[in-house]
Amino acid sequence: MSKTIDKACKATCDTMSVINQNTAAEQGMKKETLKAEIRRLAQEKNAVIMAHYYVDGEVQDIADFIGDSLALAQQAAKTDADIIVLCGVHFMGETAAILCPKKKVLVPDPEATCSLAESCPADEFAQFVSEHPGHTVVSYVNTTAATKAVTDVVVTSSNARQIVESLPQDTPIIFGPDQNLGGYINSLTGRNMLLWNGACHVHARFSVEKILALKSEHPGAKVLVHPECKGPVVKLADKVGSTAALLKFAIADDATEFIVATESGILHEMQKKAPQKTFIPAPPDDATCACNECEYMKMVTLEKLYRCLRDEKPVVTVPAEVAEKAIRPINRMLEISEKLGI
Ligand code: 13P
Ligand code: SF4
Repeated sequence: MSKTIDKACKATCDTMSVINQNTAAEQGMKKETLKAEIRRLAQEKNAVIMAHYYVDGEVQDIADFIGDSLALAQQAAKTDADIIVLCGVHFMGETAAILCPKKKVLVPDPEATCSLAESCPADEFAQFVSEHPGHTVVSYVNTTAATKAVTDVVVTSSNARQIVESLPQDTPIIFGPDQNLGGYINSLTGRNMLLWNGACHVHARFSVEKILALKSEHPGAKVLVHPECKGPVVKLADKVGSTAALLKFAIADDATEFIVATESGILHEMQKKAPQKTFIPAPPDDATCACNECEYMKMVTLEKLYRCLRDEKPVVTVPAEVAEKAIRPINRMLEISEKLGI
């Protein structure tokens, strides 16, 4: 971790490690034993552990695969493991369960949901869609399976632009649920997609003023922004992209300092891949802590991962009639992405 993060997060990190140690102590296990047990169980059960870049660093470190939302879906679709443990939020587990109906898909904490997915209840979205006949429905992957079931094609922040561009220019489009990502894609493509009024509470709270203040402290730093952020924050960016795209840029670019406006879990992998560079988390507008964390992603802990592998629960289930409909727009996304080499 960079010194900046160390200092900023010390209080949180200390508290977290006390909580983790306590829980591990309850299990009668030291952290290293816990990690060894997780790996042993994964091998014994032919389970693959997948993690999103936003989960805690120690969970990322023990995973077989880490990635952004698109990479996790692509990886789930092709794995030959018997069990998939999805260390991320619930919709990611659902997507894996829909793609792999014959496999057991586990999530360490079923309460780890997503404010963006929750901002788009399936019945209200279906009503909105029915009020706008003739529209192609494009949904961000951060949606429940039931919302995907009323969707024509799913996108992630890695492929949204290209998938929208692949639709005929005169096709009227509904885009949900993230109005910030939708507005950004409208600005890139010149489309006028109808936007659902949803947002991610983490990305929506970055502040222009705080990023500008960081810029004046670090004039050489480049600003990396996730497209779920609001328009004025996106305008400050040297690079806008999905977590994977921001990571790639940070590794390849000549700059040595980066201000990162996305969930701060990504800094763990950035720092590992580019240890000589400095990554500064952009702070939220309303807090004293310098980090902007998704509390849902941070619900996934090593202890919960261990228990879920040991007990093979909680299992993610999607009702067959929902899965049958939701698989089509997910597969359409995977097919278009493969064709476009994304
Ligand atoms: P990506 O993984 O597509 O960058 O999306 C970020 C996100 O908010 C996941 O919940
Ligand atoms: Fe959902 Fe936002 Fe958390 Fe991503 S960061 S899982 S979009 S609440």
